[in-house]
Amino acid sequence: MTRDGTVARKVAFALLGDVLEEHRLLPEVLPKRLAPLAAEDRARAQRLATVTLRMLNRADRMLGPHLKKRPPLRVMNLLRLGVTELCAEGAPAHGVINVAVAIARGDRKTAGMAGLVNAVLRKVAGETAKWERLPVPQMPKWLRKPLVDDYGKPVVAAIEAVQARAAPLDLTAKHDPGALAQRLGGTLLPTGSVRLTGGGQVSALPGFAEGDWWVQDAAAALPARILAPDPAEKVLDLCAAPGGKTMQLAASGADVTAVDLSPARMARVAENLARTGLAATCVTADALDYTGGPFDAVLLDAPCTATGTIRRHPDLPHAKDGSDFPGLFALQERLIDHALGLLKPGGRLVYCTCSLLIDEGEEQLRDALIRHPALTIDRAALARPGIDPAWIGSEGGLRLRPDHWAERGGMDGFYIACLRRPQ
Ligand SMILES: C[S@@+](CC[C@H](N)C(=O)[O-])C[C@H]1O[C@@H](n2cnc3c(N)ncnc32)[C@H](O)[C@@H]1O
Repeated sequence: MTRDGTVARKVAFALLGDVLEEHRLLPEVLPKRLAPLAAEDRARAQRLATVTLRMLNRADRMLGPHLKKRPPLRVMNLLRLGVTELCAEGAPAHGVINVAVAIARGDRKTAGMAGLVNAVLRKVAGETAKWERLPVPQMPKWLRKPLVDDYGKPVVAAIEAVQARAAPLDLTAKHDPGALAQRLGGTLLPTGSVRLTGGGQVSALPGFAEGDWWVQDAAAALPARILAPDPAEKVLDLCAAPGGKTMQLAASGADVTAVDLSPARMARVAENLARTGLAATCVTADALDYTGGPFDAVLLDAPCTATGTIRRHPDLPHAKDGSDFPGLFALQERLIDHALGLLKPGGRLVYCTCSLLIDEGEEQLRDALIRHPALTIDRAALARPGIDPAWIGSEGGLRLRPDHWAERGGMDGFYIACLRRPQ
């Protein structure tokens, strides 16, 4: 790592520009931005950008009183980065300010405002104690409004409180979660996932190289548990990459086929299966064109807005504006219909999305029942260890929210339902 952190800060600043100026998602730009960096700089740059995006509202509130008028976005982003380092990370002021001023001077578009950057950050450095007293950051209006309409203000505020904290690291054990929790000093959650709260490099944890476990949020681990495959069954994992659910299904001993559109993401499924020593037939194809089967069960983890994962991806509300969402809702509908056609009579479809929007959950289920009146909803499939019956909606699906288990560190937002094709 460069001793003064210049490289990491420059890259974090560039990442903020990618998200806030170019409206790109971090996972799209991270590989290229981080590739030239040493491992420590890489981790620091990614952490700085992520925390700044997570706490953007607070940084703006700290800056407000010191700005007569809002400077150009690029300068604002440099200030936001500096404020977050000073207030959230407790970084020494001289280093933060010197590097921010150097970055401002080095860019033609910001050079004229290096003095302002210096003056404002010095003022903020003297009042960092204010930070913790500021309100929890709210989601942008375009996303907050529909969520308030669906859940009410108190629930949305509770979700935001969880989103303001870094998410814990959840693991799924290939075999024995209790033994894994003991081995890694983690907590065994009631649903069977293992939760770790300390940071650190995932691939350095015991058992990673041997494939004894994989990273998977506790909520994301539930769809495959609800599908509960029997070893004698033929199961389809539709929209499978990077393969968290494929590995769960394969670990049950079932005959698993995994389908995903993206060759690059499908390569990750193959890598994950190889590391864990699990087997599945991998098919790179558009799910809508896939005609294999018929299957005893299909798990459809449909492409969605990913609004349930904002605590892990705080770039999302800033990079997106919701304009591409209706296209996803329509695709989910088509995928549900296609998946139903791949089932044997009496077969089950577990539909899920990592979304908080009811358009991708409760409404999809209601609409599917209107399109296919003979379908039934298998509520009994949701009765799994650790699932609170209060999380099940009147329509018969499981609504998981980040504020569930808030005292344990929360969970990703998800919607999961089990549909049965008639005999
Ligand atoms: C939510 S992710 C799946 C996560 C995965 N099930 C897991 O547990 O690791 C959605 C996936 O859908 C894939 N996808 C999007 N449109 C698709 C389509 N038309 N056919 C097949 N896969 C598609 C994407 O490439 C992406 O990998």
